[in-house]
Amino acid sequence: MEKFEICPSILSANFFNLEKEIENLKKADINVLHIDVMDGHFVPNISFGECVLKSLKNNCDMYFDVHLMVKKPLLFLKRFHKAGAFSLTFHIEADDDAFDCIKEIKSYGCKAAIAVSPKTDIKKVLKFLDYIDMLLIMAVEPGFGGQKFIDDVLYKIVNVKKIKPNLKIQVDGGINLVTAEKAKKAGADYFVVGSFIFSSKDYLKTLKDLQKIICC
Ligand code: DX5
Ligand code: ZN
Repeated sequence: MEKFEICPSILSANFFNLEKEIENLKKADINVLHIDVMDGHFVPNISFGECVLKSLKNNCDMYFDVHLMVKKPLLFLKRFHKAGAFSLTFHIEADDDAFDCIKEIKSYGCKAAIAVSPKTDIKKVLKFLDYIDMLLIMAVEPGFGGQKFIDDVLYKIVNVKKIKPNLKIQVDGGINLVTAEKAKKAGADYFVVGSFIFSSKDYLKTLKDLQKIICC
């Protein structure tokens, strides 16, 4: 991924016409898709599995950034790698050992990332920062699109950037023009955006407006 990227989350897309949705994103030069995988255990929602990623991979040329909101990531890492993931993010709150997950992801040559939910103390991830490619800071409780951005998580981005200025930070949840600006000021590099894009009438305009804030 380039510096300062918008990563559209297809969770809020129209699944009846994903091809058209992706064509519209491509018109705005988007080449990353954020894939939110939910198991109904780690979060109280089920989204989709590797068959969806596999058909995306077979039909469109995008960077697939997979966010696993699952209780047992070790069970799923290889499956999503094989289905086409370029980066795999697991939650620090999940059941499996974080070093085991990182080791497994790296063995595929994929990028490894850890996600931190809003209520989780950032101290829990500090010892892993030297071994990951990206840290995902959740700005909403994981599980659903369309929630309100929690301003309190901004300090996590600021603090991690102080400790590790070169580590890529992705912010996920509740991103719109106002919150994108706040997250950018705090130091975020990648911005996951779901409902703000997919509920807008003109994706191209929405994405251009976001790009103005994020890429400047
Ligand atoms: C929430 C997901 C997010 C979400 C973003 O659990 O990880 O990626 O879909 O959607 P919005 O932008 O609508 O908050
Ligand atoms: Zn996500």
